[in-house]
Amino acid sequence: MKYSGYAYVNTIGCQMNVYDSEKLAAILTAYGFEKTDDMDKADIVVCNTCSIRHKAEEKAFSFLGRFAKNKKRDPGLITVMAGCVAQQEGAKAFDRLPHLNIVLGTRAFERFGQHIDAVKSGKRQIVDIQDSEMIYESLPDAACFDETKISRFVTIMQGCENFCTYCVVPYVRGRERSRSPEKIIEEIAVLGQSNVKEITLLGQNVNSYGCKEGEISFPRLLSKVNQVDGIRRIRFATSHPKDLSMELIRAIKELDKVCSHLHLPVQSGSDRILKKMNRGYTKKEYLQQINELKQACPDIALSTDIIVGFPSETLDDFNETLDLLKAVEFDSIFAFAYSDRSSAPASKFPDQVDEQEKKDRLNRLLAFQETVTEKKNRVLTGKTLSVLVEGESYKKRDGFDPGPDNLKQMYGRTESNKIVHFPSDHVKIGDMVEVTITHAYPHSLWGHPLECKT
Ligand code: 5AD
Ligand code: SF4
Repeated sequence: MKYSGYAYVNTIGCQMNVYDSEKLAAILTAYGFEKTDDMDKADIVVCNTCSIRHKAEEKAFSFLGRFAKNKKRDPGLITVMAGCVAQQEGAKAFDRLPHLNIVLGTRAFERFGQHIDAVKSGKRQIVDIQDSEMIYESLPDAACFDETKISRFVTIMQGCENFCTYCVVPYVRGRERSRSPEKIIEEIAVLGQSNVKEITLLGQNVNSYGCKEGEISFPRLLSKVNQVDGIRRIRFATSHPKDLSMELIRAIKELDKVCSHLHLPVQSGSDRILKKMNRGYTKKEYLQQINELKQACPDIALSTDIIVGFPSETLDDFNETLDLLKAVEFDSIFAFAYSDRSSAPASKFPDQVDEQEKKDRLNRLLAFQETVTEKKNRVLTGKTLSVLVEGESYKKRDGFDPGPDNLKQMYGRTESNKIVHFPSDHVKIGDMVEVTITHAYPHSLWGHPLECKT
Protein backbone atom coordinates (compact mmCIF):
# COMPACT_ATOMS: atom_id res chain seq x y z
CA MET A 1 0.00 0.00 0.00
CA LYS A 2 1.05 3.63 -0.44
CA TYR A 3 0.54 6.08 2.41
CA SER A 4 1.34 9.71 2.98
CA GLY A 5 2.79 11.25 6.11
CA TYR A 6 6.07 11.70 7.92
CA ALA A 7 8.46 9.06 9.26
CA TYR A 8 11.00 9.58 12.03
CA VAL A 9 13.73 6.95 12.50
CA ASN A 10 15.92 7.00 15.60
CA THR A 11 19.03 4.82 15.70
CA ILE A 12 20.70 3.62 18.87
CA GLY A 13 23.85 1.50 18.83
CA CYS A 14 26.46 0.34 16.39
CA GLN A 15 27.32 0.98 12.75
CA MET A 16 25.31 -2.07 11.74
CA ASN A 17 22.24 -0.42 13.22
CA VAL A 18 22.94 2.69 11.16
CA TYR A 19 22.91 0.51 8.05
CA ASP A 20 19.77 -1.32 9.19
CA SER A 21 18.03 2.01 9.82
CA GLU A 22 18.81 3.06 6.26
CA LYS A 23 17.05 -0.10 5.11
CA LEU A 24 14.05 0.62 7.37
CA ALA A 25 13.95 4.17 6.05
CA ALA A 26 14.05 2.87 2.48
CA ILE A 27 11.02 0.64 3.22
CA LEU A 28 9.19 3.65 4.68
CA THR A 29 10.01 5.69 1.58
CA ALA A 30 8.73 2.87 -0.64
CA TYR A 31 5.48 2.97 1.38
CA GLY A 32 5.08 6.66 0.66
CA PHE A 33 6.35 8.18 3.92
CA GLU A 34 8.56 11.23 3.86
CA LYS A 35 11.53 11.58 6.21
CA THR A 36 11.25 14.18 8.98
CA ASP A 37 13.74 15.39 11.58
CA ASP A 38 10.91 16.57 13.82
CA MET A 39 9.75 13.59 15.87
CA ASP A 40 6.60 15.38 17.08
CA LYS A 41 5.45 15.81 13.50
CA ALA A 42 5.83 12.10 12.67
CA ASP A 43 3.01 9.76 11.63
CA ILE A 44 5.26 6.77 12.15
CA VAL A 45 8.13 6.61 14.66
CA VAL A 46 10.71 3.84 14.49
CA CYS A 47 13.38 3.25 17.12
CA ASN A 48 16.09 0.88 15.93
CA THR A 49 17.46 -0.45 19.20
CA CYS A 50 20.62 -1.91 20.74
CA SER A 51 20.84 -4.35 23.65
CA ILE A 52 24.58 -4.75 24.00
CA ARG A 53 24.64 -2.82 27.28
CA HIS A 54 21.92 -2.03 29.80
CA LYS A 55 22.18 1.70 29.18
CA ALA A 56 21.46 1.36 25.44
CA GLU A 57 18.43 -0.80 26.19
CA GLU A 58 17.07 1.76 28.68
CA LYS A 59 17.59 4.51 26.13
CA ALA A 60 15.30 2.63 23.71
CA PHE A 61 12.51 2.27 26.27
CA SER A 62 12.77 5.87 27.36
CA PHE A 63 12.79 7.17 23.77
CA LEU A 64 9.70 5.18 22.80
CA GLY A 65 8.05 5.90 26.17
CA ARG A 66 7.70 9.59 25.35
CA PHE A 67 5.35 8.79 22.45
CA ALA A 68 2.59 7.65 24.82
CA LYS A 69 1.41 11.26 25.03
CA ASN A 70 1.74 11.87 21.26
CA LYS A 71 -0.38 8.77 20.73
CA LYS A 72 -3.11 10.15 23.03
CA ARG A 73 -3.18 13.29 20.93
CA ASP A 74 -3.00 11.37 17.65
CA PRO A 75 -4.29 7.77 17.89
CA GLY A 76 -3.25 7.19 14.25
CA LEU A 77 0.45 7.50 15.16
CA ILE A 78 2.33 4.21 14.55
CA THR A 79 5.16 3.37 16.95
CA VAL A 80 7.75 0.71 16.15
CA MET A 81 10.51 -0.91 18.16
CA ALA A 82 12.98 -2.54 15.76
CA GLY A 83 16.29 -4.37 16.12
CA CYS A 84 18.09 -6.03 19.02
CA VAL A 85 15.90 -5.03 21.99
CA ALA A 86 12.81 -5.94 19.95
CA GLN A 87 14.32 -9.35 19.17
CA GLN A 88 15.24 -9.89 22.81
CA GLU A 89 12.01 -8.71 24.41
CA GLY A 90 9.35 -9.83 21.91
CA ALA A 91 5.84 -9.29 23.31
CA LYS A 92 7.31 -8.32 26.71
CA ALA A 93 8.05 -4.90 25.17
CA PHE A 94 4.30 -4.14 25.38
CA ASP A 95 4.37 -4.46 29.20
CA ARG A 96 6.53 -1.34 29.45
CA LEU A 97 5.22 0.31 26.28
CA PRO A 98 1.48 -0.40 26.02
CA HIS A 99 1.13 2.19 23.24
CA LEU A 100 3.67 0.37 21.02
CA ASN A 101 2.29 -1.03 17.73
CA ILE A 102 5.04 -3.11 16.15
CA VAL A 103 7.92 -5.13 17.64
CA LEU A 104 10.19 -5.89 14.70
CA GLY A 105 13.10 -8.29 15.33
CA THR A 106 16.52 -8.13 13.70
CA ARG A 107 15.61 -10.54 10.90
CA ALA A 108 11.99 -9.50 10.32
CA PHE A 109 12.60 -6.37 8.24
CA GLU A 110 11.29 -7.88 5.01
CA ARG A 111 7.83 -8.11 6.62
CA PHE A 112 7.86 -4.53 7.97
CA GLY A 113 5.62 -3.25 5.15
CA GLN A 114 2.94 -5.84 5.68
CA HIS A 115 2.90 -5.05 9.41
CA ILE A 116 2.38 -1.36 8.64
CA ASP A 117 -0.56 -2.38 6.42
CA ALA A 118 -2.00 -4.50 9.25
CA VAL A 119 -1.79 -1.62 11.76
CA LYS A 120 -3.30 0.76 9.23
CA SER A 121 -6.19 -1.68 8.87
CA GLY A 122 -6.85 -1.69 12.59
CA LYS A 123 -4.55 -4.27 14.18
CA ARG A 124 -3.22 -2.83 17.42
CA GLN A 125 -0.11 -4.82 18.31
CA ILE A 126 2.18 -7.01 16.22
CA VAL A 127 5.28 -8.96 17.26
CA ASP A 128 7.55 -10.39 14.61
CA ILE A 129 10.79 -11.93 15.84
CA GLN A 130 10.87 -14.67 13.21
CA ASP A 131 13.76 -15.37 10.90
CA SER A 132 13.85 -14.57 7.16
CA GLU A 133 15.52 -16.46 4.37
CA MET A 134 17.45 -13.46 3.13
CA ILE A 135 18.83 -10.72 5.29
CA TYR A 136 18.90 -7.68 3.08
CA GLU A 137 18.42 -8.68 -0.52
CA SER A 138 14.62 -8.50 -0.41
CA LEU A 139 14.63 -4.94 0.95
CA PRO A 140 14.55 -1.81 -1.21
CA ASP A 141 17.93 -0.33 -2.04
CA ALA A 142 18.85 2.38 0.44
CA ALA A 143 21.52 3.84 -1.84
CA CYS A 144 19.42 6.84 -2.77
CA PHE A 145 18.15 7.60 0.73
CA ASP A 146 20.73 10.09 1.94
CA GLU A 147 22.62 11.57 -0.95
CA THR A 148 24.62 13.93 1.22
CA LYS A 149 26.78 11.29 2.87
CA ILE A 150 30.15 10.56 1.32
CA SER A 151 30.90 7.71 3.69
CA ARG A 152 28.54 4.76 3.91
CA PHE A 153 28.29 1.42 5.68
CA VAL A 154 27.62 -1.83 3.87
CA THR A 155 26.78 -4.86 5.98
CA ILE A 156 28.36 -7.97 4.45
CA MET A 157 27.29 -10.50 7.08
CA GLN A 158 24.86 -10.88 9.97
CA GLY A 159 25.04 -12.66 13.29
CA CYS A 160 27.87 -14.23 15.23
CA GLU A 161 28.75 -17.62 16.57
CA ASN A 162 31.70 -16.84 18.72
CA PHE A 163 29.64 -16.81 21.89
CA CYS A 164 31.83 -14.53 23.98
CA THR A 165 30.31 -15.05 27.40
CA TYR A 166 29.39 -11.39 28.00
CA CYS A 167 27.75 -10.77 24.65
CA VAL A 168 24.12 -10.86 23.52
CA VAL A 169 24.85 -10.62 19.79
CA PRO A 170 24.64 -14.36 19.00
CA TYR A 171 21.21 -14.42 20.69
CA VAL A 172 19.73 -11.29 19.15
CA ARG A 173 21.37 -11.34 15.71
CA GLY A 174 21.40 -15.10 15.27
CA ARG A 175 23.96 -17.38 13.69
CA GLU A 176 26.48 -16.05 11.23
CA ARG A 177 25.30 -15.57 7.64
CA SER A 178 27.18 -13.92 4.80
CA ARG A 179 25.72 -12.07 1.84
CA SER A 180 26.85 -13.06 -1.63
CA PRO A 181 29.85 -11.14 -3.00
CA GLU A 182 27.88 -10.30 -6.17
CA LYS A 183 25.13 -8.52 -4.19
CA ILE A 184 27.69 -6.67 -2.07
CA ILE A 185 29.62 -5.47 -5.11
CA GLU A 186 26.41 -4.49 -6.88
CA GLU A 187 25.40 -2.36 -3.89
CA ILE A 188 28.82 -0.71 -3.62
CA ALA A 189 28.91 -0.04 -7.37
CA VAL A 190 25.63 1.92 -7.05
CA LEU A 191 27.11 3.90 -4.14
CA GLY A 192 30.32 4.51 -6.12
CA GLN A 193 28.27 6.05 -8.94
CA SER A 194 26.63 8.47 -6.51
CA ASN A 195 28.57 10.78 -4.19
CA VAL A 196 29.97 8.07 -1.95
CA LYS A 197 33.75 7.99 -1.64
CA GLU A 198 34.26 5.76 1.39
CA ILE A 199 32.78 2.38 2.27
CA THR A 200 32.96 0.58 5.61
CA LEU A 201 32.23 -3.13 5.31
CA LEU A 202 30.46 -4.42 8.39
CA GLY A 203 30.21 -7.76 10.13
CA GLN A 204 30.64 -9.02 13.70
CA ASN A 205 33.68 -10.95 12.54
CA VAL A 206 34.59 -10.08 8.96
CA ASN A 207 37.49 -12.55 9.01
CA SER A 208 35.08 -15.44 8.81
CA TYR A 209 33.15 -13.87 5.92
CA GLY A 210 31.85 -16.48 3.50
CA CYS A 211 33.31 -19.48 5.39
CA LYS A 212 30.00 -21.23 5.95
CA GLU A 213 28.66 -20.45 2.49
CA GLY A 214 31.87 -21.52 0.74
CA GLU A 215 32.15 -18.02 -0.72
CA ILE A 216 35.36 -16.15 -1.48
CA SER A 217 37.44 -15.13 1.54
CA PHE A 218 37.23 -11.65 3.09
CA PRO A 219 40.59 -10.53 1.62
CA ARG A 220 39.34 -11.63 -1.83
CA LEU A 221 36.16 -9.64 -1.27
CA LEU A 222 38.31 -6.63 -0.36
CA SER A 223 40.20 -6.95 -3.63
CA LYS A 224 36.91 -6.93 -5.54
CA VAL A 225 35.66 -3.86 -3.65
CA ASN A 226 39.03 -2.26 -4.39
CA GLN A 227 38.12 -2.31 -8.10
CA VAL A 228 34.81 -0.47 -7.75
CA ASP A 229 34.88 2.89 -9.56
CA GLY A 230 34.21 6.01 -7.53
CA ILE A 231 35.16 4.48 -4.17
CA ARG A 232 38.42 5.90 -2.84
CA ARG A 233 38.64 4.42 0.62
CA ILE A 234 37.64 1.08 2.10
CA ARG A 235 37.36 0.40 5.82
CA PHE A 236 36.00 -2.61 7.65
CA ALA A 237 34.95 -3.70 11.13
CA THR A 238 35.19 -5.90 13.14
CA SER A 239 38.05 -8.40 13.10
CA HIS A 240 38.27 -11.13 15.71
CA PRO A 241 41.90 -11.72 16.76
CA LYS A 242 41.49 -15.49 16.69
CA ASP A 243 40.73 -15.38 12.95
CA LEU A 244 43.14 -12.69 11.75
CA SER A 245 45.06 -14.07 8.76
CA MET A 246 48.31 -13.16 6.98
CA GLU A 247 46.17 -12.93 3.83
CA LEU A 248 44.22 -10.05 5.42
CA ILE A 249 47.40 -8.32 6.57
CA ARG A 250 48.71 -8.57 2.98
CA ALA A 251 45.43 -7.16 1.65
CA ILE A 252 45.69 -4.13 3.96
CA LYS A 253 49.25 -3.60 2.77
CA GLU A 254 48.72 -4.14 -0.94
CA LEU A 255 45.24 -2.89 -1.84
CA ASP A 256 45.53 0.83 -2.47
CA LYS A 257 42.02 1.80 -1.33
CA VAL A 258 42.04 -0.28 1.87
CA CYS A 259 42.88 2.06 4.73
CA SER A 260 45.88 1.23 6.86
CA HIS A 261 43.79 0.87 10.00
CA LEU A 262 42.71 -2.20 11.91
CA HIS A 263 40.11 -2.42 14.65
CA LEU A 264 41.08 -5.53 16.61
CA PRO A 265 39.09 -5.87 19.85
CA VAL A 266 41.18 -7.44 22.60
CA GLN A 267 38.63 -6.99 25.45
CA SER A 268 41.16 -7.77 28.23
CA GLY A 269 44.88 -8.22 28.82
CA SER A 270 44.47 -10.96 31.40
CA ASP A 271 44.68 -14.56 30.17
CA ARG A 272 42.45 -15.70 33.01
CA ILE A 273 39.70 -13.23 32.01
CA LEU A 274 40.16 -13.87 28.27
CA LYS A 275 39.52 -17.55 28.95
CA LYS A 276 36.39 -16.78 30.96
CA MET A 277 35.25 -14.50 28.14
CA ASN A 278 35.74 -17.40 25.66
CA ARG A 279 37.87 -15.25 23.38
CA GLY A 280 40.13 -18.03 22.07
CA TYR A 281 43.53 -16.30 22.38
CA THR A 282 46.05 -15.26 25.01
CA LYS A 283 47.65 -11.87 25.63
CA LYS A 284 50.92 -13.21 24.19
CA GLU A 285 49.22 -14.41 21.00
CA TYR A 286 47.47 -11.05 20.60
CA LEU A 287 50.76 -9.17 21.05
CA GLN A 288 52.42 -11.47 18.50
CA GLN A 289 49.74 -10.57 15.96
CA ILE A 290 50.24 -6.89 16.64
CA ASN A 291 53.99 -7.31 16.06
CA GLU A 292 53.42 -9.08 12.76
CA LEU A 293 51.01 -6.35 11.73
CA LYS A 294 53.44 -3.57 12.63
CA GLN A 295 56.25 -5.34 10.79
CA ALA A 296 54.17 -5.71 7.63
CA CYS A 297 52.52 -2.26 7.82
CA PRO A 298 54.68 0.03 10.00
CA ASP A 299 52.26 2.97 9.74
CA ILE A 300 49.12 1.01 10.51
CA ALA A 301 46.69 2.67 12.93
CA LEU A 302 45.28 0.32 15.55
CA SER A 303 42.16 0.52 17.64
CA THR A 304 40.51 -1.88 20.04
CA ASP A 305 37.58 -2.57 22.37
CA ILE A 306 38.11 -3.17 26.09
CA ILE A 307 35.71 -4.35 28.78
CA VAL A 308 36.64 -3.53 32.38
CA GLY A 309 35.08 -5.13 35.42
CA PHE A 310 34.18 -8.48 33.85
CA PRO A 311 33.01 -10.86 36.64
CA SER A 312 35.91 -11.79 38.95
CA GLU A 313 38.32 -9.26 37.35
CA THR A 314 40.91 -8.39 40.02
CA LEU A 315 43.16 -5.37 40.13
CA ASP A 316 45.96 -7.62 38.86
CA ASP A 317 43.83 -8.61 35.86
CA PHE A 318 43.01 -4.95 35.23
CA ASN A 319 46.72 -4.04 35.42
CA GLU A 320 47.40 -6.69 32.75
CA THR A 321 44.99 -4.77 30.50
CA LEU A 322 46.76 -1.48 31.23
CA ASP A 323 50.04 -3.22 30.51
CA LEU A 324 48.72 -4.38 27.12
CA LEU A 325 47.64 -0.83 26.26
CA LYS A 326 51.16 0.32 27.15
CA ALA A 327 52.75 -2.36 24.97
CA VAL A 328 50.58 -1.81 21.88
CA GLU A 329 50.03 1.96 22.00
CA PHE A 330 46.67 1.94 20.23
CA ASP A 331 45.67 5.04 18.29
CA SER A 332 42.27 4.87 19.93
CA ILE A 333 40.20 2.58 22.11
CA PHE A 334 36.53 2.01 22.89
CA ALA A 335 36.29 1.02 26.53
CA PHE A 336 33.20 -0.12 28.42
CA ALA A 337 32.29 -1.11 31.95
CA TYR A 338 31.01 -4.68 31.89
CA SER A 339 27.23 -4.61 31.69
CA ASP A 340 25.35 -7.63 32.91
CA ARG A 341 23.05 -9.07 30.22
CA SER A 342 20.71 -11.75 31.48
CA SER A 343 20.74 -13.71 28.21
CA ALA A 344 24.56 -13.93 28.16
CA PRO A 345 26.30 -16.68 30.19
CA ALA A 346 28.53 -14.29 32.18
CA SER A 347 25.48 -12.98 34.04
CA LYS A 348 25.59 -16.25 36.00
CA PHE A 349 29.30 -15.99 36.77
CA PRO A 350 30.26 -15.45 40.41
CA ASP A 351 32.12 -12.41 41.80
CA GLN A 352 30.44 -9.62 39.88
CA VAL A 353 32.51 -6.44 40.26
CA ASP A 354 31.06 -3.51 42.18
CA GLU A 355 29.64 -0.75 39.90
CA GLN A 356 31.74 2.02 41.44
CA GLU A 357 34.87 -0.09 41.08
CA LYS A 358 34.05 -0.66 37.39
CA LYS A 359 33.65 3.08 36.88
CA ASP A 360 36.96 3.80 38.63
CA ARG A 361 38.81 1.25 36.50
CA LEU A 362 37.18 2.62 33.34
CA ASN A 363 38.24 6.17 34.20
CA ARG A 364 41.81 5.07 34.96
CA LEU A 365 41.97 3.20 31.66
CA LEU A 366 40.58 6.12 29.64
CA ALA A 367 42.90 8.61 31.33
CA PHE A 368 45.87 6.44 30.49
CA GLN A 369 44.78 5.97 26.87
CA GLU A 370 44.29 9.72 26.47
CA THR A 371 48.02 10.24 27.08
CA VAL A 372 48.87 7.54 24.50
CA THR A 373 46.47 8.96 21.89
CA GLU A 374 47.85 12.46 22.38
CA LYS A 375 51.42 11.18 22.10
CA LYS A 376 50.59 9.30 18.88
CA ASN A 377 48.83 12.35 17.45
CA ARG A 378 51.76 14.65 18.33
CA VAL A 379 54.09 12.54 16.20
CA LEU A 380 51.98 13.62 13.23
CA THR A 381 52.76 17.33 13.70
CA GLY A 382 54.65 18.58 10.65
CA LYS A 383 53.48 15.65 8.51
CA THR A 384 51.26 16.07 5.44
CA LEU A 385 48.31 13.68 5.43
CA SER A 386 45.55 12.86 2.92
CA VAL A 387 42.21 13.97 4.30
CA LEU A 388 38.83 12.97 2.87
CA VAL A 389 36.61 16.01 3.47
CA GLU A 390 33.38 15.22 5.33
CA GLY A 391 31.88 18.58 6.16
CA GLU A 392 32.08 22.09 7.50
CA SER A 393 33.52 22.41 10.97
CA TYR A 394 32.36 25.01 13.44
CA LYS A 395 35.09 24.33 15.98
CA LYS A 396 37.78 26.79 16.98
CA ARG A 397 41.05 26.13 18.79
CA ASP A 398 43.11 28.55 20.83
CA GLY A 399 46.56 28.89 19.32
CA PHE A 400 45.50 27.66 15.87
CA ASP A 401 45.54 30.23 13.07
CA PRO A 402 42.20 29.86 11.26
CA GLY A 403 43.18 32.30 8.47
CA PRO A 404 41.11 35.32 7.42
CA ASP A 405 37.72 35.81 9.06
CA ASN A 406 35.60 34.69 6.14
CA LEU A 407 37.54 31.46 5.52
CA LYS A 408 35.44 28.34 6.08
CA GLN A 409 36.66 25.73 8.54
CA MET A 410 36.36 22.21 7.14
CA TYR A 411 36.96 18.78 8.61
CA GLY A 412 37.68 15.33 7.34
CA ARG A 413 39.49 12.12 8.23
CA THR A 414 42.90 10.67 7.60
CA GLU A 415 43.38 7.13 6.37
CA SER A 416 44.02 6.21 10.01
CA ASN A 417 40.54 7.59 10.87
CA LYS A 418 41.75 10.67 12.75
CA ILE A 419 39.71 13.86 12.49
CA VAL A 420 41.50 16.84 10.92
CA HIS A 421 40.22 20.44 10.99
CA PHE A 422 41.56 22.95 8.49
CA PRO A 423 40.61 26.32 6.97
CA SER A 424 39.71 26.47 3.28
CA ASP A 425 37.22 28.33 1.17
CA HIS A 426 37.41 26.19 -1.94
CA VAL A 427 37.39 22.50 -0.94
CA LYS A 428 34.14 20.57 -1.16
CA ILE A 429 32.73 17.65 0.77
CA GLY A 430 34.11 14.48 -0.84
CA ASP A 431 37.41 16.07 -1.96
CA MET A 432 40.71 14.49 -0.98
CA VAL A 433 43.04 17.19 0.38
CA GLU A 434 46.65 17.10 1.53
CA VAL A 435 46.81 18.80 4.93
CA THR A 436 49.98 19.66 6.84
CA ILE A 437 49.37 19.12 10.53
CA THR A 438 50.38 21.98 12.82
CA HIS A 439 48.53 21.17 16.06
CA ALA A 440 47.71 17.81 17.69
CA TYR A 441 45.26 17.09 20.52
CA PRO A 442 43.93 13.81 21.91
CA HIS A 443 40.76 13.95 19.81
CA SER A 444 41.70 15.97 16.74
CA LEU A 445 44.43 17.24 14.48
CA TRP A 446 44.55 20.76 13.02
CA GLY A 447 46.41 21.97 9.97
CA HIS A 448 46.53 23.80 6.64
CA PRO A 449 45.84 22.35 3.18
CA LEU A 450 48.46 22.16 0.45
CA GLU A 451 46.28 21.75 -2.59
CA CYS A 452 43.01 20.22 -3.65
CA LYS A 453 42.99 16.86 -5.50
CA THR A 454 39.45 16.11 -6.66
N1 5AD B 1 29.23 -5.20 28.59
C1 5AD B 1 30.11 -4.26 28.19
N2 5AD B 1 30.60 -4.20 26.96
C2 5AD B 1 30.20 -5.12 26.07
N3 5AD B 1 30.53 -5.33 24.78
C3 5AD B 1 29.84 -6.39 24.33
N4 5AD B 1 29.07 -6.89 25.31
C4 5AD B 1 29.28 -6.13 26.41
C5 5AD B 1 28.79 -6.15 27.73
N5 5AD B 1 27.93 -7.08 28.15
C6 5AD B 1 31.51 -4.51 24.07
C7 5AD B 1 32.68 -5.33 23.53
C8 5AD B 1 32.43 -5.36 22.05
C9 5AD B 1 31.77 -4.01 21.85
C10 5AD B 1 31.02 -3.87 20.57
O1 5AD B 1 30.89 -3.90 22.95
O2 5AD B 1 33.87 -4.66 23.83
O3 5AD B 1 33.60 -5.51 21.29
FE1 SF4 C 1 29.81 -10.55 20.63
FE2 SF4 C 1 32.09 -11.95 20.66
FE3 SF4 C 1 30.46 -12.12 18.54
FE4 SF4 C 1 31.82 -9.86 18.99
S1 SF4 C 1 32.73 -11.88 18.54
S2 SF4 C 1 29.64 -10.03 18.47
S3 SF4 C 1 31.87 -9.74 21.21
S4 SF4 C 1 30.00 -12.81 20.61
